[in-house]
Amino acid sequence: MAEQSGYAKKVLVAGATGKTGSWVVKRLLHYGVPVRVFVRSEQKARSLFGDAVEVALGNIQDADAISRAVSGCDGVISALGSSAVSGEASPHEVDRDGAIRLIDEAAKAGVRHVAMVSSIGVTKWFHPLNLFAGVLNMKFAAEEHLRQQFSAAGRSYTIIRPGGLKDEEPLQHRLRVEQGDHLWNGWTNRSDVAELAVLSLWVENAANKTFEVINEELEPQQSLAGYYDKLSG
Ligand SMILES: NC(=O)c1ccc[n+]([C@@H]2O[C@H](COP(=O)([O-])OP(=O)(O)OC[C@H]3O[C@@H](n4cnc5c(N)ncnc54)[C@H](OP(=O)(O)O)[C@@H]3O)[C@@H](O)[C@H]2O)c1
Repeated sequence: MAEQSGYAKKVLVAGATGKTGSWVVKRLLHYGVPVRVFVRSEQKARSLFGDAVEVALGNIQDADAISRAVSGCDGVISALGSSAVSGEASPHEVDRDGAIRLIDEAAKAGVRHVAMVSSIGVTKWFHPLNLFAGVLNMKFAAEEHLRQQFSAAGRSYTIIRPGGLKDEEPLQHRLRVEQGDHLWNGWTNRSDVAELAVLSLWVENAANKTFEVINEELEPQQSLAGYYDKLSG
């Protein structure tokens, strides 16, 4: 049954057919939020979500398709991610240019809030993960663009930097949240990343925050909203 959040505006999920993105959709539906997904394959979207979501087709290289997808949305959550060193799913194409295109189209369309999944280590150009086509550098460029575009009055952003991603149920771990990109390792459940992204739509203290998040010990959580109270400006 949908849990009430008091938030009932439409949200676009980019990367919705990915492992984190599909958790974002599930958590939005859990709270009764109307969802539109921006996907490359309608068949994949329908197999995951049935008729519970609106589908906007396109790839992140296509500004017109993105413009149609963000139209009428109050929020955008991006769980986009690259999976190849070159081509349409590369870090350069997806994590940087694609994310920046999404942010720009969202701003033009009057979207109020954008939440984006980034990564721990994103400020460290010398991190070994950058051997994958500079993926962290690409993500950092997109982060900077989001902070610049969405910190203006009437807009807000939330940037979530998880550790290594795992596939477990949400709300099972106490979390450690940090700021300043000092963490070098740790695990985070995709479902908790999704939950934090969804909560950022209506939790006031999530506005204009960039933070890292990793699991601490197993300890069932009633809500993750309180973690936003631990963050500073
Ligand atoms: N893996 C880790 O341990 C780790 C750690 C920290 C942060 N992260 C970050 O967390 C985020 C989510 O990771 P994940 O493993 O859940 O991602 P994922 O399962 O690989 O999903 C990536 C999504 O991006 C979409 N995508 C890729 N290229 C696209 C394009 N050209 N146009 C439109 N959509 C495109 C994919 O669409 P299709 O479904 O059509 O392929 C998919 O929906 C990523 O940004 C990742 O870098 C990952």
